[in-house]
Amino acid sequence: MRRPNWKSNDKTAVGKGATAQQFFATVGGDKLEIEVAPWGEGQLKVNGREIARVTDAKDRRQAFQDLDKAAERYLSASGANKEPSMIPPVRAKLLEDKRGLIVGIANENSIAWGCAKAFRAFGAEVAVTYLNDKAKKYVEPLARELDSPIVMPLDVNAPGQMEAVFKRIEEEWGKLDFLVHSIAFSPKEALHGRVVDVDRAGFLTTMDVSCWTFIRMAHLAEPLMRKGGTLFTMTYYGSQMVVKNYNIMGVAKAALECTVRYLAAELGPKGIRVHAISPGPLATRAASGIPEFDALLDKAKAKAPAKSLVSIDDVGVATAFLAHDAAKLITGETLYIDGGYHIID
Ligand SMILES: NC(=O)c1ccc[n+]([C@@H]2O[C@H](COP(=O)([O-])OP(=O)(O)OC[C@H]3O[C@@H](n4cnc5c(N)ncnc54)[C@H](O)[C@@H]3O)[C@@H](O)[C@H]2O)c1
Repeated sequence: MRRPNWKSNDKTAVGKGATAQQFFATVGGDKLEIEVAPWGEGQLKVNGREIARVTDAKDRRQAFQDLDKAAERYLSASGANKEPSMIPPVRAKLLEDKRGLIVGIANENSIAWGCAKAFRAFGAEVAVTYLNDKAKKYVEPLARELDSPIVMPLDVNAPGQMEAVFKRIEEEWGKLDFLVHSIAFSPKEALHGRVVDVDRAGFLTTMDVSCWTFIRMAHLAEPLMRKGGTLFTMTYYGSQMVVKNYNIMGVAKAALECTVRYLAAELGPKGIRVHAISPGPLATRAASGIPEFDALLDKAKAKAPAKSLVSIDDVGVATAFLAHDAAKLITGETLYIDGGYHIID
């Protein structure tokens, strides 16, 4: 893993009677530069182009830490053996004026984080949620990178939290243009056993968190999407085919994909589009709960026509495209972002 070796220059006088500090590093052919101000603002540039910005860190040190992490992510995404990210490093204006809610960022490996980065890079404003206090410390620095004006707790099992998030969005934005639902859960005993053995509680919890919450979020989003909008949820090929070890989650994803079609039909007349995004396997925390996941990754790479695994950034840019007005007549889809895996026998 390439890491920047930061060297600081003398402090530079800036506004507010204080000084900003600059740090420089060269990694491979890339010239990296971080500038941080004492009140917690800062930016990261690579070869003169802005890659990340923080506006509300606690202080200079925290701003530097956030930007150093952003630099690490940039370097790992552009590593020699990886394809460069499709997310534009400079903010593009494709989704300017759009505001959306992204649910499901646990850490920087989350599919929801790939989506959040892409939507933000295309100019949208994003609200994000975190599961609980434990998750907060991982999500907060990411939210700062996104300049998220709304960062709230959301455990879908906690009564009232979902409603509180939508209420805040209504108060602060008065509208919502897109929603990314990127959460799923199944108790271990249910997920690891045969479908034929799943008990009622395991079935209901799996369906509740992984499917019903999307219905509920769509219900709460509908009145905020007065001028239309796009609702997204994340699914997986194990809904269509029996994938070893996917078990009861496959059943929930089949219900979720069907839900997408019904919601698309019901909400279409209001200009609200609904999609399921079906990424190939990605090594996230949720995926670590699936036994023999490495074998699934190997198979995905070998069988996909693209001969490549997908990244969260790939998923993010394709999802963001569907939120653009150019995609206004596409709805009810299950969009595979899997290098073509699903078309091969
Ligand atoms: N990783 C893969 O290979 C893969 C492939 C296809 C689809 N998906 C789907 O993508 C989505 C995101 O998963 P991921 O792989 O990014 O993993 P992840 O662990 O990063 O994200 C899962 C998210 O679900 C959230 N969650 C779980 N229970 C919750 C609850 N009670 N309330 C609120 N949030 C809750 C977690 O906090 C976490 O943020 C899931 O729907 C998953 O099934 C994943």
